[in-house]
Parts: sequence; structure tokens; C-alpha cells
Amino acid sequence: MRNGVFISFEGSEGSGKSTQIDRLSSRLEKLGHSVTVTREPGGTEIGEEIRHLLKHSSSGKEMCPETELLLFAASRAQLVRQIIAPALGEGKVVLCDRFLDSTTVYQGVARKLSKDPVTVINNFAIGDLMPHLTVVLDVPAEVGLERIRHRVSDLPDRMEKENIQFYKSVREGYLVLARSLPERFVLLDGTEAPDTIEQKILNALDERLP
Ligand code: TMP
Repeated sequence: MRNGVFISFEGSEGSGKSTQIDRLSSRLEKLGHSVTVTREPGGTEIGEEIRHLLKHSSSGKEMCPETELLLFAASRAQLVRQIIAPALGEGKVVLCDRFLDSTTVYQGVARKLSKDPVTVINNFAIGDLMPHLTVVLDVPAEVGLERIRHRVSDLPDRMEKENIQFYKSVREGYLVLARSLPERFVLLDGTEAPDTIEQKILNALDERLP
């Protein structure tokens, strides 16, 4: 029996997911909820090693899209079974920075892998564990890239080195996906003030997850 609530956050680079996850997590904890915050790829020891391979390792340079798809799915399979499902079983609220929709959009739409294998592999990785709600923060590709350029952290990773067209496809992929599944998705303008976005997320939770 899983009594918890599972909320995923999606959007392209620089869309402001981490800020909103931090804010929501603090809010929910103040209200007395027990919250687990995690991320993809990563969130487990195995997943963090996969994350390194996908983003930072020099051996990732030659990676083909099919390998990339399977590595993201492998990280997710572990995260679901080791962290997310047990937390939901304990009645926690799980906030996940990216989940299966990232694969649908980045590998399926932007990398142009065929839809059927992406869907099958996504479903295999998650089992029956779909988010109750998915918040998409939408920002124009140029805005997102400009934001990550100003980050204090180091050089761009392998995914961040893609060209602007790639991020435009990512954005479009999220818009199409979110509009096609309005019962699961909340689509928000990520260029609005963080306070405004936070309030809209809280409103959506109130309406959708009583
Ligand atoms: P981030 O944690 O900084 O958002 O970096 C994760 C990167 O990996 C980002 O470029 C999106 C990408 N990604 C995929 O391409 N497919 C996936 O399934 C996931 C979870 C992330």
C-alpha cells in the first residue's frame, strides 16, 4: 500500500526546478509532512555513478543515443525501487527533480529515438510508479541557457553542450506532452517571479491533491 504523494518536476536547463523544489519542500515540512527530495539521473549510489557517466565522465564523449536512453532508465529503475517506492510506502511526499518525462522529451523528441522503444523502456524502469502530479516549468531555450551560463558552478556538462535547436526541441516536447495529459501535468511559466510560481504550485497541489 502506498499512501504517499509523488510529484515530479520537469523543464529544460535553467527552468528553475531546483529553486521550486527547495521552496516546496520547506513549505511542506513546515506543514508537518515528511518529504523526500531526490533527482534524476542519480538519487542512489548506483544512480549517482550513472549520472557522472552521463554528464561529466570523459568516457561519455562517444555515447550513442541508445546507450544514453538505457543509462537514464537504469538510474530510474534503481531510484524507483530503492528510494521512491519505499518512501511512498511510508506515506511521505516525494519530490523528484526529473522523471520519465525527461526521457520521453530529451531522448524521444530531441534525440529523435523511436517512440515505441522509449515508451517500453520507460515503463519497464518505472514499473507501475507514475507521478501523481508533474510540474513543468516552461522557459524559452535562450532564457534557460542564459541562466545556466551565469551559474557559479563549473564548465557545461555533456548535455549542456548541445546547440540551441536541441533545447528548442526539448521545450516544444514538454509543451506538447503537458498539453496532451492535462490531468497529470501542471504547466507553468518559468519566467515569472519565483514567488508567483511557488504560489501557483501550491494552488495546483490544493486543487489536484486534496
Ligand atoms: P540536471 O540534473 O542538471 O537537470 O541534468 C540532467 C541532464 O540529463 C539534463 O540535461 C536533462 C538530461 N536528462 C535526459 O536527457 N534524460 C533523462 O531521462 C533525464 C532524467 C535527464
